[in-house]
Amino acid sequence: MAEYKRTLITTALPYANGPIHIGHLAGVYVPADIYARYLRLKGEEVVLIGGSDEHGVPITLKAKNEGVTPQDIVDKYHGIIKESFKKFGISFDVYSRTSSKIHHDTASEFFKKLYDTGKFIEKTSEQYYDEENKQFLADRYITGTCPKCGFDGAYGDQCESCGSSLSPTELINPKSMISGNVPVLKETKHWYLPLAQYEDWLREWILEGHKEWKVNVYGQCKSWIDSGLQSRAVTRDLNWGVPVPIDEAKGKVLYVWFDAPIGYISATKELTPEWEKYWKDPETRMLHFIGKDNIVFHCIIFPSMLKAEGSFILPENVPANEFLNLEGDKISTSRNWAVWLHEYLEEFPGKEDVLKYVLTANAPETKDNDFTWSDFQARNNNELVAVLGNYVNRTLVLTQKYFGGVVPALGELTDSDKEVLAKISDIKEEVEKSLDNFRFRESLKYAMDLARLGNKYLADEEPWKVIKSDEERVKTVMNICLQITANLTIILEPFLPFSMEKLRSFLNFEKKGWDALGNTSLIAAGHKVNKPELLFEKIEDKVIEAQIQKLFDTKNANDLVETKASPAKENINFDDFGKIDIRVGTIIEAEKVAKTKKLLKLKIDTGIDQRTVVSGIAEYYQPEVLIGRQVSILVNLEPKKLRGIESQGMILCAENADGSLSIVAPDQKADNGSEVK
Ligand code: 2FM
Ligand code: ZN
Repeated sequence: MAEYKRTLITTALPYANGPIHIGHLAGVYVPADIYARYLRLKGEEVVLIGGSDEHGVPITLKAKNEGVTPQDIVDKYHGIIKESFKKFGISFDVYSRTSSKIHHDTASEFFKKLYDTGKFIEKTSEQYYDEENKQFLADRYITGTCPKCGFDGAYGDQCESCGSSLSPTELINPKSMISGNVPVLKETKHWYLPLAQYEDWLREWILEGHKEWKVNVYGQCKSWIDSGLQSRAVTRDLNWGVPVPIDEAKGKVLYVWFDAPIGYISATKELTPEWEKYWKDPETRMLHFIGKDNIVFHCIIFPSMLKAEGSFILPENVPANEFLNLEGDKISTSRNWAVWLHEYLEEFPGKEDVLKYVLTANAPETKDNDFTWSDFQARNNNELVAVLGNYVNRTLVLTQKYFGGVVPALGELTDSDKEVLAKISDIKEEVEKSLDNFRFRESLKYAMDLARLGNKYLADEEPWKVIKSDEERVKTVMNICLQITANLTIILEPFLPFSMEKLRSFLNFEKKGWDALGNTSLIAAGHKVNKPELLFEKIEDKVIEAQIQKLFDTKNANDLVETKASPAKENINFDDFGKIDIRVGTIIEAEKVAKTKKLLKLKIDTGIDQRTVVSGIAEYYQPEVLIGRQVSILVNLEPKKLRGIESQGMILCAENADGSLSIVAPDQKADNGSEVK
């Protein structure tokens, strides 16, 4: 679409069952925000739509686990998410939510129209049912043994141990997670969108008509379409969601992926009574910003729904991103492996733009990328501080110093001046081309090239030396430096909005539109600039180390939770326990047992005597380090010959899940022979 009147930008609605993390930001919200700010700066009509996705089974499960209602869960997280987006400066025109009345009504009407015009097919199938609780079980509500790997805690839709997709009937020994009972199969009716009917149209519309889509997006669509599209159930047996608005569907709700994208429409309705111009006028250009796991829903299913409905426009582009990892590991809400936006905002106040910068410079646009705290620090210190901040600061300080803050007039231009001025408009062209093609990391690089250009110009011209002999020349140089600075406030505005507001205040300069970019007399001679403050500050090692430590703490906590302890043994009585004689002893000699990998021969002072014990700890302890260490020793174990050596007792160890051993000893020095009880 070459010509369009307005742009509707949607951003994937995050599930309201956890806060926002850097993966969400890098994949969806930061690029969408940059693009919206860019269009606004160009004076175009644009709306940026967002909202929370508040339905679906995981939310009901979380509520159940926490003993609260699903509404409590979504109220809590919708609040946190909305607030953190606002503080971070994602410039939504509306941030709505799918548990709202306007959304329930909109989604209901949408379904009803498709139903009334015969767009669904009805099918009855057998699904698991919990007889005690009288309810059908969502796939996630059933656990059992994975048929592929034998893991005991597999879910009805997926085994998290081996990663296989499953259907609930494949599980061995299925159990309802609500009652713990064995579920029974029972017939239930659902409504399906027959996607196969849209296959030819999708092929034509995407594979022929949208070859310009990003390779990753186009490729995924092609592979879905080529492998044949199956009908998708758009209703579920669940009591949390938008009720299906037909009599025979009592107790059923719309499938979360049916109602969520309709949330974009409801949010637009909430924003303006003129919402139809955004959704029904062919001169509106609709763009969906999403992560790669959402491609099929936004390129195939939602467009088929819109096509079936008949009165809506279709997306013009879906610039989906790949994933961002964190310190080499997949970001995970449930494992708390993330940098959470609300925590970042508290721990790095005033550094919203730093995170935006790093996430854009390292955006997972064409492949998965990794966020590391050391890269965060390096980009702040070496790029924002050393290149941008330093350039701006030197320009403003020198203007104060030599001209009392008054912009000097331009004199005669040298060839190098002319070259620098010409480059400003070249950069404009490059940045636009990248932005128009959703290549945000490239566009940020070009924008920063303007600051690099300024730094080089200053270094080449050395006004601090020239001032001694030729003040007129310095006037020209500083004028050009100030023009570059003024241009920076425009070119970087979409990326670093808070910092550019600051910079404009240093320059005492009004916000300018994108069209002014490239203008080399933006700031007039005689204009007075203010005394600058620092635009960015260095981030010290200890700040980064604290963040890394925080992640390690999380990892350790996860490892503890993930370690499966074996079940407790049968109870014994106190007399049984009393038969066990454990003493504290000290190792006085230790050596390897020849021709074995695992055994050490230890001589231990038990306080009662000195005795020999053979212990299987050689893989975990070097004999030398053991001399002098205290241990707990079971002294009344029947002696046993091991490799020809009589072992008179056993030293106690903790055995980890991986079989590794750790000696259990008193935590302060104790007398040899003291009883452990
Ligand atoms: O994947 C997700 O996080 C979904 N909540 C995205 C929904 S996008 C849209 F359809 F609302
Ligand atoms: Zn498995």
